[in-house]
Amino acid sequence: MRVLVTGAGGMLGRSFALYLSRHESWVNFLSHRSKMDVTDSTAIQNGFNHSQPDVVIHLAALTDVDLCQKEPDAAYLTNYLGTWFVAQACAQRNITMVYLSTDMVFDGSKESSYIETDIPSPLNIYGKTKLAGECLVRNLVSHHYIIRTGWMFGGIQEDHKFVGKIIEQILTGKELKVVTDRIGSPIYTEDLANKIINMLTENLPWGTYHLANRGSCTRYEFARQIMDYSELPNISIVPILSSDFPVDTPRPAMTALRNYSLELMGKDDMRTWQEALNEYVAKMVKERKRKTEPLRIAR
Ligand SMILES: NC(=O)c1ccc[n+]([C@@H]2O[C@H](COP(=O)([O-])OP(=O)(O)OC[C@H]3O[C@@H](n4cnc5c(N)ncnc54)[C@H](OP(=O)(O)O)[C@@H]3O)[C@@H](O)[C@H]2O)c1
Repeated sequence: MRVLVTGAGGMLGRSFALYLSRHESWVNFLSHRSKMDVTDSTAIQNGFNHSQPDVVIHLAALTDVDLCQKEPDAAYLTNYLGTWFVAQACAQRNITMVYLSTDMVFDGSKESSYIETDIPSPLNIYGKTKLAGECLVRNLVSHHYIIRTGWMFGGIQEDHKFVGKIIEQILTGKELKVVTDRIGSPIYTEDLANKIINMLTENLPWGTYHLANRGSCTRYEFARQIMDYSELPNISIVPILSSDFPVDTPRPAMTALRNYSLELMGKDDMRTWQEALNEYVAKMVKERKRKTEPLRIAR
């Protein structure tokens, strides 16, 4: 199976690269923006001609939610037009396309976890562009998987997102304030990449799937759990409300996801977010110690 991954240098892209490098049955082409800018249709056609993929995993996106809000044209250019070009290239060649979407397609007003048949209604530009991408993929590519996922963590050394930031803060020893009124479903990038490859291998029906680790939590609970699993000296984590820190970009309050399509098929074997987080944080702290140890000895 030949697979082309767009946005391969990103957080999830690196987990795909790791998985594919360990499995010889997959020939992988990892595409970075420098080689294949998804807003350049000629570059896409060249990339497809060169790699001749059976499957395209389209991860390339502008993922900074605040930047998307400030620069909507840039967000639509990458997340909408870029997805359009990739979808068109897949459709022309009858290639299976995997498109990564987000829990931010929902407005957060539901009281229980979102399932695939709930009606999206994004609150911010990022969510709107990702939903627009979903519609393109659905309309243009008959063999598609649209995967909506939640609060991603992974990447270890390159982790500049929530888990990485919390670990950094714990190491400073300073107090941390985290909101209690945002609920979501965490997902470890390695679990996500493995499951997507598994879905492709098992030929699961094409369509839209929610895919996250089992369970949900508030940002505050997530931060506390990171601290517990890190086994680093504890700092004070203060619960606050998001209204205490108003931001320009509207964000949905509740985006827990239920992997309902997989559940119905008897294929939801995702572990809990706590198990996944525990494994990830342990790896991250170990890697950190490995990197800092020689420095201490040298001193
Ligand atoms: N992170 C999350 O919590 C989350 C949650 C739900 C869904 N998702 C979706 O999952 C996918 C992967 O997310 P991620 O967190 O791995 O994202 P990420 O770390 O921000 O990586 C995105 C990648 O896309 C590349 N890219 C941006 N513009 C491009 C362009 N015009 N042409 C080609 N490549 C371009 C970036 O390259 P540069 O590094 O060169 O900019 C980067 O390598 C995205 O589609 C995202 O919308 C993410």
